[in-house]
Formats: sequence, structure tokens, C-alpha cells
Amino acid sequence: MDQEMNQPVVGAVPAGARDRESAARAVREMFTSIAPRYDLLNHVLSFNVDRLWWWRNARKFDAILQNPEARVLDLCCGTGDMTFALRRRARSRAAQILGADFSHAMLQRAASKGKGSMPRSPQWIEADALRLPFPNGHFNLVTSAFGFRNLADYDAGLLEIARVLAPGGECGILDFGAPAGIIGKCYRIYFKKILPAIGTVLSGVRGPYAYLPASVERFPSPDEMLGRMHQAGFREVSWTPYTFGVAGLYRGVKSV
Ligand SMILES: C[S@@+](CC[C@H](N)C(=O)[O-])C[C@H]1O[C@@H](n2cnc3c(N)ncnc32)[C@H](O)[C@@H]1O
Repeated sequence: MDQEMNQPVVGAVPAGARDRESAARAVREMFTSIAPRYDLLNHVLSFNVDRLWWWRNARKFDAILQNPEARVLDLCCGTGDMTFALRRRARSRAAQILGADFSHAMLQRAASKGKGSMPRSPQWIEADALRLPFPNGHFNLVTSAFGFRNLADYDAGLLEIARVLAPGGECGILDFGAPAGIIGKCYRIYFKKILPAIGTVLSGVRGPYAYLPASVERFPSPDEMLGRMHQAGFREVSWTPYTFGVAGLYRGVKSV
């Protein structure tokens, strides 16, 4: 076993995972098992707010997307909804929009959704976010929607994003948060009790919808996450809450 494998996991730890490799394997198997129903569940469980979040997120990066030479990577793209939102906002067909995920089944669904639906579909790449098959400094923007939280090592994920970004390039990570106050209380009841029950019935698989609230609970607070981004080489780091903090966008610019 190499040294990397002995390091403590600072990232997602699905039930039964012992190290980075087994955590990643469990996450991949989990998403592969729910791929056929993933979109339906997303829309039902979020009351369709997910569509608004993807659109709003893509709009935040208009300055980059309107550059005809933009190179954009949507990490952990799943069935591609964030990637499609980016593609729609890119002004030029020449802009390169790529979606990457390590679950083949999720990518297959993304590819079939893209067929004939827009003038230039995104490109899809099967790849692990912790070992991206791209050269240093290749992208102007790297996004991830509800995917980063599932990485087995958050710091390694941030370093890999920083590696593939060009100096001055931007990173945008959209993920769940923990709303405060009375809204937070109601939301936690929904998220921890009702959502896993509905998710289990609709998907026919128990694990993933119990894992979801647990993974959100383990995820660093906004302050901690911004500190980690800073350490990974990002400046101008910020967090913008969406929908009372149910979700939020982490942004950073790769230092020149
Ligand atoms: C909750 S889904 C999000 C999908 C999509 N971005 C969305 O907004 O609906 C998380 C995705 O992250 C992918 N994923 C998790 N860890 C990954 C890794 N290390 N490398 C690549 N993809 C990963 C999973 O396969 C899954 O498709």
C-alpha cells in the first residue's frame, strides 16, 4: 500500500469505506445504481428548484462563457444538467464545454439527453475528478454541481481543479448547505426523514438516499471550505447562498 492510501480520508465516507479507493468505489457504484431514476428523483425531491440552481449557476459565469475560446469543464456532471446549462449560456458554438464523471451509466444518460437537443452538444468524458486526463492550465472554468461533496478527498479535489485551470481561471462549486433558523429546522426534517424515504421508494435502492443527508452533514462549513480553497491556491474566494442556504456556490480564482 503506498503512502497516499494511508492518509486519513478528508472527504466523503460512504458506509463501509475504509480508505480513498474504497470510498470512491462505493460512490461510483451508488450513483450507477440510481442512474436510471436520477433525473426524476432530483426534480421530485427538489420540487424542481434544481433547474433554477443550475441555470443561476451557469449565469454567474457569463463573463467566461461569452468568450468564444472558452474551455469549460463540468466535473461530476452526472446526467449533465449543469453541463447543458453552461452549454446554453455559451455564446459561441466554438466554446468547448466538457462534462466529466466516473460513472459510465450517468454519462450514458447525459449523452442520450444531449442528442439533437441543441446545436452543439457538450462532450462527455469518463474520468475520476481526482485524476483528470487534462494538461495543466487547460481550462478557463471548472464547475461542479452537487458532485464535489462526494469526492473521497476534498483537498486533493481542489488541487486537481487548480492544476487543470489556467492562471486567472475560475472554479465554481455548487453544493448543499445547512440553512439556519426555522427554515433550517423544517428543512432538516425534510432532508433527513422525508427525502430518504421518498428517494428509497422511487429509486428502489436504500443506500444512496440515506447517504445524501449524511454526506451533507460531513461537508465542511462555508468558512472551512473557503479556507481549503485558499490553501489550494485560489484567491477571491466567496460563498453565495441559494434558496435560504439550502444550496450555495463556492467561487474562487486560480492565482496567477
Ligand atoms: C449528485 S450527482 C451530481 C450530478 C450533476 N452534477 C447534477 O447536478 O445533477 C454526483 C455525481 O458525481 C460523480 N462523482 C462522484 N465522485 C466522483 C469522482 N471522484 N470523479 C468523477 N465523478 C464523480 C458521481 O458519479 C455522480 O454522477
